[in-house]
Amino acid sequence: MQLLDGRAVSDQIKKEIAGEVLRIREAGGKIPHLAAVLVGHDGGSETYVRSKVRTCEELGFKSSLIRYEEDVTEEELLACVDRLNKEADIDGFIVQLPLPKHISEQKIIESIDYRKDVDGFHPINVGRMSIGLPCFVSATPAGILELFRRYGIETRGKHCVVLGRSNIVGKPVAMLMMQKSEPGNSTVTVCHSYSANLKEICLSADIIIVALGVPEFLKADMVKEGAVVVDVGTTRTPGKTRNGSKLTGDVKFDEVSPKCSYITPVPGGVGPMTIVSLMRNTLLAGKKSIYE
Ligand code: GUN
Repeated sequence: MQLLDGRAVSDQIKKEIAGEVLRIREAGGKIPHLAAVLVGHDGGSETYVRSKVRTCEELGFKSSLIRYEEDVTEEELLACVDRLNKEADIDGFIVQLPLPKHISEQKIIESIDYRKDVDGFHPINVGRMSIGLPCFVSATPAGILELFRRYGIETRGKHCVVLGRSNIVGKPVAMLMMQKSEPGNSTVTVCHSYSANLKEICLSADIIIVALGVPEFLKADMVKEGAVVVDVGTTRTPGKTRNGSKLTGDVKFDEVSPKCSYITPVPGGVGPMTIVSLMRNTLLAGKKSIYE
């Protein structure tokens, strides 16, 4: 069993991006600028956004954090998106999800200029991704495929089972794995809460990508010997750490890992890859590599 070390790979990619930013700076070019909008004080969202802003600083990007209280209105948030769409210095921005219940996430996502949608959540980016056109690919799926690429994991002709059908991970990663490209070219099965014979389907998988948000869902008796397992889960559960909680994945790691050829740990697997994928999208936005 070999660990898919997202932290090590992401450190390498960060060096590559920082080098490119340095070259842009020396040539007097446009320094990439990412803005993040954070609503409320959800612990997980605070942590993720802080980490995104910190990574921008590490790489030499400009970053802006825009905060609103939980009671911000949908109109105020739409006005903020409109300002960011128009602000010439900002190359890309994200609105951290989830949003409070009184705000329509879909309405906010659709109000973002797709050319600045570095999360890749806008229907134009999702649609272009699904037919293989240049676009911003959402960060978690892009990060997973980059891990496969850097570890030379063969995906062509393999049976890839995706557990979960969210718009952020399950659907786009399934789309990318079936795409006529490498990594890709897999035979993909997507399972969800109504899937029958889940165990049998998983047992036939060469690659399992678990994105359910159910701690330790995937057990050893669901995994074929030699499978590649990618764990997207990050549920905070009580644990013996500084702040009294720890991150738990969707895979029962201790019993599943001995059966795997490769497996991602939690933390240190998919998480760091997600952040660098967002940074890569911001660099592409700054260079106007995808859209003019
Ligand atoms: N919430 C959980 N993951 C993400 C993400 O990738 N982007 C945004 N904007 N919100 C999230």
